[in-house]
Amino acid sequence: MRAVHAQTGRSSLLALPLLVVTQVAACGSPGDTPGPAPAGDGDGSGQEAGAPSAGDDSTGPAADAGDAAREATGGPDTPAVEARVAGLLGQMTLDEKVGQMIMVDYGSLASLDDITTYFLGALLPNAGEAPADNTPRAWLDLAGSFRPKALATRLAIPLIVGIDAVHGDAKVAGATVFPHSIGLGCSRDPALVTAVERATAAEVRAMGFTMSFSPDADVGQDERWGRTYESFGEDPTLASTMVAAAVTGYQSAGPGASGALLACPKHYAGAGGTSWGTGVMGGIDQGDTQIAEAEMRAVHLPPFKAAVDAGAMAIMVSYSSFNGTKMSASGHWLTDVVKGELGFAGFLLSDFDAIRQLAGGSQQQEATAINAGLDMIMMSNGYVEFIADVKSLVAAGTVPMARIDDAVTRILRAKVVAGLFEANAPDPGGLADVGGAAHRTIARQAVQESLVLLKNDNHVLPLSRSAHVAVAGPGADDLGVQSGGWTLGWQGVTETGASPIAGTTILAGLQATASSPALVTYSWDGSQVPSGTSVGVVVLYENPYAEFEGDTNDPSFANTSSAQDPSGHVIYDGLAAGIVRQMTAAKIPLVLVLVTGRPVRIESYLSQFSAVVAAWLPGSEGEGVADVLYGDAKFSGVLSKSWPRDATTLPVSSLPPGGDPLFAYGFGLGYP
Ligand code: BGC
Repeated sequence: MRAVHAQTGRSSLLALPLLVVTQVAACGSPGDTPGPAPAGDGDGSGQEAGAPSAGDDSTGPAADAGDAAREATGGPDTPAVEARVAGLLGQMTLDEKVGQMIMVDYGSLASLDDITTYFLGALLPNAGEAPADNTPRAWLDLAGSFRPKALATRLAIPLIVGIDAVHGDAKVAGATVFPHSIGLGCSRDPALVTAVERATAAEVRAMGFTMSFSPDADVGQDERWGRTYESFGEDPTLASTMVAAAVTGYQSAGPGASGALLACPKHYAGAGGTSWGTGVMGGIDQGDTQIAEAEMRAVHLPPFKAAVDAGAMAIMVSYSSFNGTKMSASGHWLTDVVKGELGFAGFLLSDFDAIRQLAGGSQQQEATAINAGLDMIMMSNGYVEFIADVKSLVAAGTVPMARIDDAVTRILRAKVVAGLFEANAPDPGGLADVGGAAHRTIARQAVQESLVLLKNDNHVLPLSRSAHVAVAGPGADDLGVQSGGWTLGWQGVTETGASPIAGTTILAGLQATASSPALVTYSWDGSQVPSGTSVGVVVLYENPYAEFEGDTNDPSFANTSSAQDPSGHVIYDGLAAGIVRQMTAAKIPLVLVLVTGRPVRIESYLSQFSAVVAAWLPGSEGEGVADVLYGDAKFSGVLSKSWPRDATTLPVSSLPPGGDPLFAYGFGLGYP
């Protein structure tokens, strides 16, 4: 029996054994001494409305960062935007400022009125949270209930409401589910990525949300990582091109356009380069990036530079560490590098409860993170305590007022540039876009372009429309499996039969493309191959997973030992060998279709299959797979991630060159 992993929530079990944390000072480098709190609001009691803020003319690296951004990008912080932001900041009390620095899980709100009472700046659904019926309309109503509470505050500063729309607005039933990024990376088509994210932005905006926690700008080096599929690939140039294309797509309604979607590239920086054994439960996710700074800059920084240059106004900081220092505590990477050197004028958002992984008690964690350069803190709960803490840290001079003002300036700048102040109340007019035909057409094209042909002996592909085809493998008939993690819930779902994911399974796509649906038969275990069948299609798959639950020390269909998978999540359910055995017994040419979030070891299966196709996690449009298998579209994808040859070559990447992959980065066959 197959394991079902429908996660409905997430614990805060991310508290890890703590690595060494470097204390850093406000707006400076590690080792600087925090200065005294500026006069004026230093008692933390909140300044009077209308009184000038002590930090209005902030100086130092943070102010320099704004200047650098203006010089580097010519905006978006134009004088008019800056004047508007300064005008608002100058009127704000300390309570209003600290409220802006909070992004809270809406499920943790004691009451919606707390949005008004505490001047909250941003909300998110945690990864497992959704309205009861999870329809686009229900999400729109939810966003609609938040908005007036923010507008009821004295300065009527609008909220940012974010969601993990990492492959379409896939949390929402009925949305278009696009291929995960590893597949889009294989397309090598940035215009496609822009089109995908423009469509995603339209679906997210239609339900009244204003930020997507994407694109993923990680440069995934290690296929054992459970987030490999979220990365566009192992090469920094590829990742940079695709990240820029994605930011452009998300924000393509135009700077200042009403209702524009804010991109939030993540996870800054080095999350794709952590070492096995340093992560959650002894895995790799959230671990330590143990490389020289030169390599960090050459491999992991470029996609973030590309994002900044493309106009990203928010960046999410990684849970991971760099040589033992948590990124959330690193003034070097947060203040000096991204804000200073790269001229990032937007705001740095923490990952979910990430500051609680820092050393010390809550106040020390908050001081470390804010002084290092985090501007907005994403949290599951505890916002009332956070406000009290930060006010006393400011009163004590531990967190300088100038740092608070810089953080709030950056948040307000992003809100102004995104047009949130001008945006009208969400209206149901856009809901027709969610899962609409135009977006599904883009998704189907994205599936076609992301497929990679790894082997094709005797031209077994393309299939003939008139061929009798026997399909096996439960992943052929499961919208949840083909969509992967971050679909409906955090860990994704497995579904057979009716699914709230609206789309076409791979099996249904094949049946719809054949001359007659009856020509394509299916048995999940490969036990039924009708006589007269000329070719078999076997779908091997990973059960959906997300984050550290996808870490595995051995990405192999033969790996059924949870000892290899630190979280115990069942990624490989052990059915593969039996299905392949049954199908090979039919003695017909076989096509292997891989529905996986990473290159999975297949060396023991290669000789049994005439053709092998990496389909990644294609999402809701299974017809895109059928289009290519039947030759209506050609294979054009090439690998975005090197393929391990066997257990001794894990992990394998083209960086550094010289590894011994089964299929190299950039490999991909075509039809003649
Ligand atoms: C993940 C982020 C995600 C955030 C909000 C975190 O656990 O690392 O990628 O955006 O949760 O759901």
